[in-house]
Amino acid sequence: MSVVAGAVPRTIEWVGGLDGHVSMIDQTRLPVDLVMLQCRDAKTIWDAIRRLSVRGAPAIGIAGAMGVVLGVRDDSGKDREGFLQHLDEVCDYLASSRPTGVNLFGALERMRGCARSFESNDVEALKAALLDEARLIRDEDAAMCREIGRHGESLIESGAGVLTHCNAGSLATAEYGTATAPMYTAHAAGRRFRVYADETRPLLQGSRLTAWELQRAGIDVTVLCDNMAGALLRSGKVNVVITGADRIAANGDVANKIGTYGLAVLAKEHDVPFYVAAPTTTLDPDTPDGSTIPIEERDPDEIRCGFGKQTAPPDVACYCPAFDVTPAKLIAGIITERGLIQPVNERCVAEILGACPS
Ligand code: MRU
Repeated sequence: MSVVAGAVPRTIEWVGGLDGHVSMIDQTRLPVDLVMLQCRDAKTIWDAIRRLSVRGAPAIGIAGAMGVVLGVRDDSGKDREGFLQHLDEVCDYLASSRPTGVNLFGALERMRGCARSFESNDVEALKAALLDEARLIRDEDAAMCREIGRHGESLIESGAGVLTHCNAGSLATAEYGTATAPMYTAHAAGRRFRVYADETRPLLQGSRLTAWELQRAGIDVTVLCDNMAGALLRSGKVNVVITGADRIAANGDVANKIGTYGLAVLAKEHDVPFYVAAPTTTLDPDTPDGSTIPIEERDPDEIRCGFGKQTAPPDVACYCPAFDVTPAKLIAGIITERGLIQPVNERCVAEILGACPS
């Protein structure tokens, strides 16, 4: 581990060649310490995903892809079939780290596909191709986030109030973020507005991460506790709500950080448009609707004893889903790198996916 001074480093990147390592911001340490975590094997990546050192659906996908490279790069003396079998085992292992964000599974499938379609039996060359693929997944995510910013920036006018939940920012992606991309783009265009960041209990991604990165970017940000969102919306200070997504079903239902659904209901009640920003890698056409999206349950101690502070009786039962599902009917639009999905329904989701170069 190393402490970093000065400019913010990349959320996650591969450093060096095939014998290099993955370097990521350890997000469990923010906003107090900006510390890099160096990962040299698949287990360190798995642990980093599980404990949320790296988090946010796109960043988890990138970590998974790089974790595959770490998991197979020391394979020696294996023929192609033996190598592919081990690669499958590494992918299955990494897939068991967190269940809800679909980008992880998409990235792992891409790594498997890259290996299977590699035409030579030269295992060393195949390892190099896998590293290229993992780096490409990172670079593509960065480019998609920029495009999301371009498509979503007009939602944020000068003087606007923008409410967001959790962290769907640079820290949750390769760079620029999804929900934050329209904010960064509007800010770069000279518009001045205020972002309200829900604290996001129990792990405080809003106050620890979103507030940290927006403040560093010079964007006016105000933190509120989650239970203040209703009063804020009623006050008329919010013109638009923008959140990220962990998985979007074929009918447009959106799984995102727990609390997103409540926010969407509140936004509807107050006639404030509720938008979701996500790359098409977060769309899951194989999941028909939100009811079958697997929702991660986390350790009750994150609620009872968060950040080492006992805030409930040690043995009290807790309800602790990490995500919830917002029905498509509550969502004004989904901002993707290919444009807006609007209205949010099965046909429009399929249309955006159909625009996909296969
Ligand atoms: O549990 P987390 O911190 O990984 O949850 C993250 C979110 O819910 C984000 O909103 C989502 O992954 C989108 S990130 C661009």
